[in-house]
Amino acid sequence: MTQAQEAILLVGGKGTRLRPLTVNTPKPMVPAAGVPFLTHQLVRARAAGVEHIVLATSYLAEVFEPYFGDGSSLGLHLEYVTEAEPLGTGGAIRNVASRLRSGPDDPVLVFNGDILTGLDIRALVDTHRSSGAEVSLHLTRVEDPRAFGLVPTDDTGRVTAFLEKPQTPEEIVTDQINAGAYVFRRSVIDRIPEGRPVSVERETFPELLSSGAHLQGMVDSTYWLDLGTPQAFVRGSADLVLGRAPSPAVPGRCGDRLVLPTAKVAADAKLTGGTVVGEGAAVGEGARISGSTLLAGAVVEAGAVITDSLVGAGARVGARTVLTDTVVGDGAVVGADNELRDGVRVWCDATLPAGAIRFSSDR
Ligand code: GDD
Ligand code: MG
Repeated sequence: MTQAQEAILLVGGKGTRLRPLTVNTPKPMVPAAGVPFLTHQLVRARAAGVEHIVLATSYLAEVFEPYFGDGSSLGLHLEYVTEAEPLGTGGAIRNVASRLRSGPDDPVLVFNGDILTGLDIRALVDTHRSSGAEVSLHLTRVEDPRAFGLVPTDDTGRVTAFLEKPQTPEEIVTDQINAGAYVFRRSVIDRIPEGRPVSVERETFPELLSSGAHLQGMVDSTYWLDLGTPQAFVRGSADLVLGRAPSPAVPGRCGDRLVLPTAKVAADAKLTGGTVVGEGAAVGEGARISGSTLLAGAVVEAGAVITDSLVGAGARVGARTVLTDTVVGDGAVVGADNELRDGVRVWCDATLPAGAIRFSSDR
């Protein structure tokens, strides 16, 4: 049986919850395990037999093509379509329809651009073909579904409702959520209204269901993470390095750490838990870094202790400073002897003097 040959990747979101990581860089281009996150998705799609991918861009659209070009280095044919104004998920899908080559009944894959998952893409396409559905959706189970699209199904897997970001307790009817990967029958894409913002989650799916269309869910329990928050992004990057999240695009062997070429790490520094040290970054003597990401050119001075945190490109963390669950934006300077934790975000290019912020009264 032939497999889907083309896909749409939605990469136009503003990445608001990920700021300041997304001030200079759109979410899919923030490095995870040493390469722009999008690389992992592209390479996994290619491995599943996808050859033609259209990137639906909007926010900071200009950075994608200079990096990925025509996609030939990844064995792909990539095209880029930029929305003049953000069109939402459904509008973005409709906006690239003219670039698709599939016939009206052929399957077209659609991916949210911020999902790290071990999804068996071929299995989703097979589910789509065997069920004869108009749209098939990858579903996953999460503990707290409120931040997602809830997708209850009947005992054959047929979708019975689609409730995006439920507001009331009564709406929380299932722990199955939309995992952000779909197979659309091509003709369904062509019927999305053109030239205005459309949310596939709030408009297209509910309307299809109320018109009696067949939407099929495929639930699985493979690795799944939406990298929409700094905590999730750092976790996802570490899981890629540790090999918990599968990706052929990790530049090096999986293990406790990934140190990119040209990075400098002091001999007695300790890097654990899937820590990434980016190109040209430097880690000083006795520093301990766990489950964290240092982007290119970041500097961590001697004795700093960094856990589950991200240090942006060219940022500096002073000696003995302790960061836990913290994001330091590109170019920021955190002076020596600070203690930051619990989701603190230091904005790009900000400067914190030495000893400025503590969480505990003493250390
Ligand atoms: N081109 C384009 N234009 N892309 C967009 C736009 C737009 O106007 N708006 C959002 N996107 C892209 C984002 O870049 C992202 O890759 C994807 O669409 C989903 O947007 P998010 O902003 O990440 O949505 P979410 O995480 O709150 O919710 C979505 O994903 C959940 C799973 O992670 C929904 O699809 C939920 O139903 C789902 O459960
Ligand atoms: Mg998301």
